[in-house]
Amino acid sequence: MRVSALTDLRCPVSGGSLRIDENIVRPKIINTQLGDDLQEGLLFCEESGKLYPVIAGVAILVRKPLTYLASNYYGIMTSAAGFIEADMVAYIEGGGVDLVSEGSQSAKYNTAANIALYIYHHYGDWFQQLPSDHPLGALMRHLDGDWLGKLIETVKNYSGLVDTALDVGCSVGGLVYKLAGFSSFVYGIDYAFPSVLVARSILLGQPKSLDCYRLPLTGTRYRTEQIRMERLTNVEIVVASAESLPFVKGMFDVVTGANLVDRMGSPLELVRAIDAVLREDGLVLLTDPYDWRMAHSGIEDWIGGRVDSPSEEAMRGEMEREFAILEEQDRIPWILYKNEREYTIFLNHCVVGKKLRRG
Ligand SMILES: C[S@@+](CC[C@H](N)C(=O)[O-])C[C@H]1O[C@@H](n2cnc3c(N)ncnc32)[C@H](O)[C@@H]1O
Repeated sequence: MRVSALTDLRCPVSGGSLRIDENIVRPKIINTQLGDDLQEGLLFCEESGKLYPVIAGVAILVRKPLTYLASNYYGIMTSAAGFIEADMVAYIEGGGVDLVSEGSQSAKYNTAANIALYIYHHYGDWFQQLPSDHPLGALMRHLDGDWLGKLIETVKNYSGLVDTALDVGCSVGGLVYKLAGFSSFVYGIDYAFPSVLVARSILLGQPKSLDCYRLPLTGTRYRTEQIRMERLTNVEIVVASAESLPFVKGMFDVVTGANLVDRMGSPLELVRAIDAVLREDGLVLLTDPYDWRMAHSGIEDWIGGRVDSPSEEAMRGEMEREFAILEEQDRIPWILYKNEREYTIFLNHCVVGKKLRRG
């Protein structure tokens, strides 16, 4: 986490500012081309009295950091192996949180295979690689494949050049990368530690560069894919929950969220949380296939998805409380590679809104 981001980041519990604590874990700060980067340490909020760990350069700004460490212990330890110092291990194990590890609800997003699929989805040109006789070829050519690119075009239609932008549920950072092309600074947040670690590795080269990955084919077969992205200087990605965004209120001009709503524990909280960090007249783009699953959220928490309540209508209603709707599109195909013989096709709803002026 770049140290300069402390001016924008806030405690997810109190909203208070954060400072680097020097008492419990010795802060490890390295000097990079982007300025000082806190590779390991603890962030402290005076108001809430809470400590938030920074591990392998990834700040974990969630409301219950000890529970997060316990639930994600193995995912963190394996994905950040070699980048965790004895001090941090002592902090985690001294607090005993490794002993109550119960596995994360979002464990799926922590697996190497799933992360590889999202790297392929965000940075690969897979639709161009399909052989001419591939059964999906004609469909992909018809759709013009570049899904994230199309989302960005929709944002650009309303925004022009942007000062600060945020992508919630950013996974490995593909949309952060695209937003960075026309924004002064972009933050990404995701709840999955390994995805944030990968996003920082690809986009910032921290704590190490990631230039290739193994794409699953079938079974244990894989192909090594190169990632050819230029490093960026104007992005930062942290672990946080979309329900309590750890930022200064009203600081963003644009907030995007793709395929996140139906994967959150409290989808209804998302619109309120985005509203809090957007400036007046700020722009929001949300797109989702509303593939509701109780593994992610309870039925009461879904936005529609119940008898007499189609999700697209319920979502529009939720959005209209805080935003003027600028554009709505439905049944946009979103195609996700699973392996060389399995692709999932979702049909997404997409809403663009502008934050209403208050008072
Ligand atoms: C289906 S993936 C979509 C990723 C990316 N936005 C895209 O469209 O390719 C859902 C992402 O949301 C993240 N996620 C789930 N619940 C979250 C929450 N409460 N806060 C932040 N991220 C969350 C997951 O870790 C995962 O990376």
